[in-house]
Amino acid sequence: MATKKALISGITGQDGSYLTELLLEKNYDVFGIVRVKSKFDAERIEYFKKTPSALSRLHLIYGDLTDSEFIKKTIKEIQPDEFYNLGAQSSIKESFNSPEYTCDSAGMGTLHCLEAIRIHSPRTRFYQASSSEMFGKVTETPQKETTPFNPRSPYACAKVFGYWITKNYREAFHIFASNGILFNHDSPRRGENFVTRKITLAAARIKHGLQDKLYLGNLDAKRDWGYAKEYVEAMWMLLQQKEPDDFVIATGETHSVQEFLESAFSYAGLDWKKYVEIDSNNFRPTEVDMVMGDASKAKRVLGWEPKTTFKELVKIMVDADMRLIEAEAQDKKK
Ligand code: NAP
Ligand code: GDD
Repeated sequence: MATKKALISGITGQDGSYLTELLLEKNYDVFGIVRVKSKFDAERIEYFKKTPSALSRLHLIYGDLTDSEFIKKTIKEIQPDEFYNLGAQSSIKESFNSPEYTCDSAGMGTLHCLEAIRIHSPRTRFYQASSSEMFGKVTETPQKETTPFNPRSPYACAKVFGYWITKNYREAFHIFASNGILFNHDSPRRGENFVTRKITLAAARIKHGLQDKLYLGNLDAKRDWGYAKEYVEAMWMLLQQKEPDDFVIATGETHSVQEFLESAFSYAGLDWKKYVEIDSNNFRPTEVDMVMGDASKAKRVLGWEPKTTFKELVKIMVDADMRLIEAEAQDKKK
């Protein structure tokens, strides 16, 4: 059988890096869209430089989801079997400061991908990175595929558009296009501005005497947190089905930011109350108070279920940041 080709937007992000590893293990040729920057910055995929056999099957292409001509040209040339659209301005807080750019990348970017597939490569299977943020101010708990959307940020509004345009291209043009409605998933590769990583990095820095205080916002918000490495498996599974469809991917548990904070600091041997201060700059104009997903359809149809518990995720992230900061501290001593 010919080697399958996968195209990934957002390959330098948390999920993009795990998905790349998974697809290379499955013997795909992986093509990744990397944004043009003044400095090459792709530390999450640096790993591949040490694995020459994998490196020969990884191809980076420079461009942007907001550039429809670039997306068309890329799809026309590559003719990918699968396209995972993970690229987006993904910070909810930042989406209030840059609403247009957020909607251009997360919303219109999705349409650019679908149009390019419709015109140049209609057999390409398309995965859209939809989000639990679309449920926003939730109207039922737990949230499932049929729960109405009620978005609370420009980011979530853009993702709602991405979701519907994906469904529309599936129905109107018979493109194999599926939405993964993923609840929060984190890992040692999580961006440093997201709350879990901000907490685990701070715990490690405080432990090593490199930080005194941790400034946070709303500690009462509740999220359904899973392990990113497992969530990218669900993305792949979605595109291996006979028919395209939409799936919630979640753990089915919800925990507050304070619970995450308490667990991480106590695992690091610290009393969080001595270090944490509340800073109003970390609050959002409108907040999503609580989400909790029902992934029973994914379990039934895809055979996917989460394995890593909340406590295990906290430990994985704290351990990784302890190692990272220890190595940084050693380097400084040299
Ligand atoms: P992430 O770490 O923030 O990665 C986002 C990726 O998108 C980065 O590679 C970024 O490139 C790229 N990107 C941003 N704007 C772009 C543009 N205009 N054109 C091309 N690429 C662009 O996000 P993640 O956590 O891996 O999440 C992956 C996707 O799933 C995102 O769409 C996110 O909104 C969605 N999602 C995430 C979660 C979660 O809990 N992690 C849950 C539901 C949905 P740079 O490296 O250059 O910044
Ligand atoms: N980032 C951040 N920083 N969040 C804080 C802070 C802080 O200092 N203090 C409290 N929080 C609260 C936020 O108000 C929010 O309720 C919660 O922590 C989680 O925030 P984030 O980690 O920024 O994640 P998110 O849930 O808003 O968004 C992430 O998950 C979505 C899926 O539900 C992102 O990855 C989105 O792209 C993704 O769609």
